[in-house]
Amino acid sequence: KNYNISIIKGDGIGPEIVDEAIKVLNSASKKCGFTLSYKEYLMGGIAIDTTGVPLPQETIDGVLASDACLFGAIGGEKWDTLPRELRPETGLLKFREEMGVYANLRPAIVYDELVNASTLKPEVIQGCDIMVVRELIGGIYFGKPRENDGFKAYNTMVYTKPEIERISKTAFELAMKRDKRVCSVDKANVLEVSQLWRDTVNEVAKNYPEVEVSHMYVDNAAMQLVRNPKQFDVIVTGNIFGDILSDTASMVVGSIGLLPSASTGDKTAIYEPIHGSAPDIAGLGIANPLATILSASMMLRYSLNEEKAANLIEDTIKIVLKDGYRTKDLASYDAKEVLNCSAMGDKIVE
Ligand code: NAI
Ligand code: MG
Repeated sequence: KNYNISIIKGDGIGPEIVDEAIKVLNSASKKCGFTLSYKEYLMGGIAIDTTGVPLPQETIDGVLASDACLFGAIGGEKWDTLPRELRPETGLLKFREEMGVYANLRPAIVYDELVNASTLKPEVIQGCDIMVVRELIGGIYFGKPRENDGFKAYNTMVYTKPEIERISKTAFELAMKRDKRVCSVDKANVLEVSQLWRDTVNEVAKNYPEVEVSHMYVDNAAMQLVRNPKQFDVIVTGNIFGDILSDTASMVVGSIGLLPSASTGDKTAIYEPIHGSAPDIAGLGIANPLATILSASMMLRYSLNEEKAANLIEDTIKIVLKDGYRTKDLASYDAKEVLNCSAMGDKIVE
């Protein structure tokens, strides 16, 4: 069997980490008896430099025609002064919108092998297994009107009931396969949109009587994630809160370089690490490729139904970590050897 994978490497560490994921994908697919064909497309700063726009039509068409998309990250200082519509980040938002990927699944799982790599106490984090379900194509990132005239600037946070219903449904369906607990995070004490969010989550919850529902204000949720992360199973929240809370959750796990994600909807799904292009370490070869490799394994599981290969990759990563191999971001006292980005990919293949 062969699958067509669209590849978007992007900017900064994007090419470095995606190359390692491809290495691991090739090895796993070979072992499990299927093949992958890759086609590369441009997005972000590199697309601006090459084609003049952050999201060429060719990229949209190519990804739509593929079975799944593996994406690195985009952005960098070089493009930060461009007008908003020409910026790399605008390309990414438009890309997600075009693909209709409203549900961004961000698992935050603490590996036993890494309990000492976190800055938090082992007893606080051990066994933590959270799924952050972030709404990805609505909310304040997309709301109109938006403007900045140099004196006054504003954005609009907007969600419609159907948008909240479909992301809630995703969260409850996931919870049914997990620990049957959903915590919806909002700011309903001050925001209209959050009140609609909360009411709608409660309505959807009626269809899932086995699932325990709770609600939490986002400021408290940020605190609770660090205080006692194990209280959470599925967290469902809007675009901006999900963005921020998953970065917080990454430090429970140990490093932002560990958190993968699946962006899913009605069309081609996109698999991407939760972090950005990390310009501060780009080109140094020290980025952690595991978030991208784990994203690739989510791709095998969710889009290609190659469960065996996905498990193989995840089990191998655990062995590599158990053996004490780390990238620089995880170089705690119990590390045996600190590997660069490409050596980490090689080690997993080995
Ligand atoms: P960032 O996630 O790129 O980096 C934050 C910090 O985490 C940096 O110190 C970085 O070195 C570190 N880091 C990130 N990924 C790492 C990895 N795999 N291994 C080791 N360390 C890692 O966020 P930042 O610095 O706020 O944004 C940088 C650029 O990325 C900006 O242009 C931003 O707009 C863009 N960005 C793009 C995203 C995407 O493409 N999905 C998501 C977030 C930001
Ligand atoms: Mg983010």
